[in-house]
Formats: sequence, C-alpha cells, structure tokens
Amino acid sequence: MKVFITRAISPEGIQLLQNAGISFTQWTEKRELTQDELISFCKNYDALISVGQDKIDKKFLTACSHLKVVAQMAVGFDNIDVAEATKLKIPIGNTPGVLSAATADIAFLLMLAVSRKAFFQYKSISKGTWGYYEPTANLGIELHGKTLGIFGLGKIGFEMAARCYHAYNMKIIYCNRNSNPFAEEKFESKKVSFEELLEQSDVLSVHTALTPETKGSFNIDAFRQMKKTSIFINTARGGIHNETDLITALQDGMILGAGLDVTNPEPMHPDNVLLNMPNVAILPHIGSATEETRNAMSRLAAENVIAVYKKEKLPHIVNPEIYK
Ligand code: GLV
Repeated sequence: MKVFITRAISPEGIQLLQNAGISFTQWTEKRELTQDELISFCKNYDALISVGQDKIDKKFLTACSHLKVVAQMAVGFDNIDVAEATKLKIPIGNTPGVLSAATADIAFLLMLAVSRKAFFQYKSISKGTWGYYEPTANLGIELHGKTLGIFGLGKIGFEMAARCYHAYNMKIIYCNRNSNPFAEEKFESKKVSFEELLEQSDVLSVHTALTPETKGSFNIDAFRQMKKTSIFINTARGGIHNETDLITALQDGMILGAGLDVTNPEPMHPDNVLLNMPNVAILPHIGSATEETRNAMSRLAAENVIAVYKKEKLPHIVNPEIYK
C-alpha cells in the first residue's frame, strides 16, 4: 500500500502509517499541485490523503479510479464529487468531530474581536494613532444577553452555541434542516426559519457545509434583512457568503460588522477593503489550526487509510452507501 499525501501533515498520523507499515510520500513544496500533476502522481499510489482544497472532481476520479481510498484531512468535502466517487466505489473519508472545539474557538474569537474592533485597534497602534484618551471614542458593543443565530447546527455550531450561552448567557436560535432536541434542552435554543434567523440575530454565525443549497445564502437580500447592529461570522466556507454583497452591506450600514475565517476567494487579496474596515476581523482559514487538532485530524485520515489496508470499512466515512 502506497499513499500520496498532498501536504506535510502532523506527526501523529504519520506515525500511525509508519507503525502499520504503509509507505507514503508527502508533497512538501509550498505550492498548489495542479490537477494534472496530482493525477500523474496518484497513478503510482493506491491511496490519497487529500489536504486543503484538492480538486477531486469527475475528471480526477475517472483518471484515478484505481484509488482504494481518498482520505480527506478536513471535515468539509465540498472539493470532492462524492456522487462520482460512490459510483466508482471509492470510499471517501473525512475528519469530523475532532476540529469542532478549535473551530468554534475561532468563531468566538472573531465575534469578540469584531464587537470591540480589536484587529483594527491593534493595527492603529502600529500606525501611531494611540494618542489622546477620548471617553466616547473606540467604543464597541457588549454581547451579554444578545441573540446568537446559528446557521447550521452541527457539531461546530453546537460548540459555538455552548460558548456563547455559558460565557454571555446569549439567547440561542438556529436554522437547520433537522431539529436538535439536545441543543434545545441544553441551551434553551429554538429552531427558526432562515428569515427569522436574519431578523432576530445580534450575532449570526455560519457553521454549515458548502453545498449547492447553501452557496451564496448570505447575499445582499439576506444582509438587508439583518439587524443594522448585527455581526456576521463565517468560519465554514467563503462560498456561503457573497463577498461583494458583504462589502456593500458593511459600507451601507446594513450590518455592523463581520468576522471571517474563510473568504472567497482564498487566499484573500491583501488590498481587499475588508482588511481596513474597523468592524471587520479576518483570519486566514485557521479554524482547526492547533497542534492538538491537526494531530487528531492527521490521525483520523491515517486511520481511514489503514482500515482500507486491513480490508476493513472506513471508520470516518462520507459515502457509507458504497458498502451496501
Ligand atoms: C476545514 O476547513 C475543514 O473542513 O476541516
């Protein structure tokens, strides 16, 4: 069994592969592989650990239909044509659960940073603007008792709700396909429609997957329905908001601020106007970027490959229907 890994990953997953006697190659050049390069590498391997946004589409899967597994080292898999992989009977793995707390921490951090204009204030100091103390300048807003709206109450949304409920006694509402009775009981939360979520949230935090249904959900019409005092947070995927509309919404005062760990496109261009807005905080897609979480993600990806090596089912699978 030979595995191709599209970036250098954390040591715990590597150790598991070594212990299992599986040979592997990590792509360590700090540039994206083109899809043609990835295809030609994969021809010589049995399995792929995909890290980042490798394009695992119909073209790739058809060319690499010999792969015994594609183990995505991420929870999101919007870069993969899962239906096509299922047709070809290629199991697709991901890394759910282990990154929920770290990602919710980033959503919480962004919420706080926006509410107190922290990133902007920090940048101002280095420009030498820390001068005369004005009691009515640099004012932010407080979060205690405000309403948090969660768009997509999965594991990460649950963790964000927990933080906001316990830290600030925030009222929790959520918009999700299914009800979550556990979250309703734990946080006295209430399921609402998308319109109600827009109208009632003081902080609206996105935690859903990027799918054809969620793509561009936060456009100018949505921002127009939000409170003028509200904060928009996205730590899920940049494609879920329309960035041009978000800029207009902020410039025209439709919403108060925004915190983004995901942008559209990524990386964000350094001249993007969002980077200089006082009520905006941007991070470079670091939701899961802790030592502990990246190690756990590498472990889950390795476990998925090892399962295939042992002719077992993937423990963390996206398309279990291939086993039917
Ligand atoms: C990160 O964005 C992930 O999907 O794990």
